[in-house]
Amino acid sequence: MTPPVDEAAIRKAVKILGSGGLVAIPTETVYGLAADADNRSAVEATFRVKGRPTNHPLIVHICGPEAIDAWAENVPPEARMLARAFWPGPLTMVLKKKPRCGFFVTGGQDTVALRCPSHPWAHALLKAFAGPNFRGLTAPSCNTFGRISPSRAEHVVEDLGVKPEGKLDFILDGGPCEFGIESTMINLSGGTPSILRHGVITREAIEAVLGTAVPDAGGDAPRASGRLKSHYAPKTKLEVLPRDHFLERAQELSSKGMRISVMAERLLLDALSAAGIPTVMAIEAPMHALEYGAALYENLHQLDHSAADRLLAQAVPNTADWAAVADRLGRASA
Ligand code: TXA
Ligand code: MG
Repeated sequence: MTPPVDEAAIRKAVKILGSGGLVAIPTETVYGLAADADNRSAVEATFRVKGRPTNHPLIVHICGPEAIDAWAENVPPEARMLARAFWPGPLTMVLKKKPRCGFFVTGGQDTVALRCPSHPWAHALLKAFAGPNFRGLTAPSCNTFGRISPSRAEHVVEDLGVKPEGKLDFILDGGPCEFGIESTMINLSGGTPSILRHGVITREAIEAVLGTAVPDAGGDAPRASGRLKSHYAPKTKLEVLPRDHFLERAQELSSKGMRISVMAERLLLDALSAAGIPTVMAIEAPMHALEYGAALYENLHQLDHSAADRLLAQAVPNTADWAAVADRLGRASA
């Protein structure tokens, strides 16, 4: 699904980023809004474009484990182990920051989040951009603050767009994102390692590498917008319902004259039509967590565009492999 790397487009992106521009970049999770992490005014423009509070820190994307020490200090051995196991890939590590990393990147905190993406376009871009000082790219998800993250270039075009009508200098279209859900985030900046955000790299996989239990971060965890109760939300109100309540709720809304769009397993969709409950759009939910996650934001985008008054999604299983999906659904419906 990922098209071959377009070297000319990569060169163009490097040039724009080097002169302080903003570029949408594909990663294996979601599209990112990239800026030169050493360039204060470029990084500040990122916050303005997204409408994101400036005290919410950004992830610095780097070309590989060799760049860790250019950005972080007091790096614990666990960080090296995890980088060896999962980089390049969808794991972000929060570490103590080096003075080189500006507070304008970290939202004033003394930690920095580092990630080395595996998407071939992002990887090629970071290799080309890094240079001898291991330059990195700040990249929050490339969406307006609080909205659904983009898993395709089309989502970026529609939301932020390219200048002069839009806000970005360039969009690198590297195809649809493989995983479709933001990276797993782990706090390694002191004390026991803990999970700040769930993603496709599971707790179990991390615990297997570290050989210890890795709990969820508590309420004292560093600021992270992905930890806000309401985030990743469609414009149309979304309700997440267990299978047993789904039909009843659909019936209730429909009888009030509300137009509904739904995402649920085949059985439920069939039961809806058998009961004569009309839907504007009905999406069959994938049965596997990875597949479900990869399609989640695209499906939410579609449901949001279906001109329904209310969106209904069937709740997902309460098991470890569904943790990241359950988390995003919960915030999207909060
Ligand atoms: O998969 C991803 O991580 C995507 C792609 C583009 O790489 N990026 C992404 O960035 O999801 P963003 O900014 O949308 O979400 C990063 C989360 C935010 O909730 C932010 O507050 C948190 O990470 N974060 C960043 N730096 C942090 C730090 N030093 N300490 C704690 N949380 C941090
Ligand atoms: Mg985001």
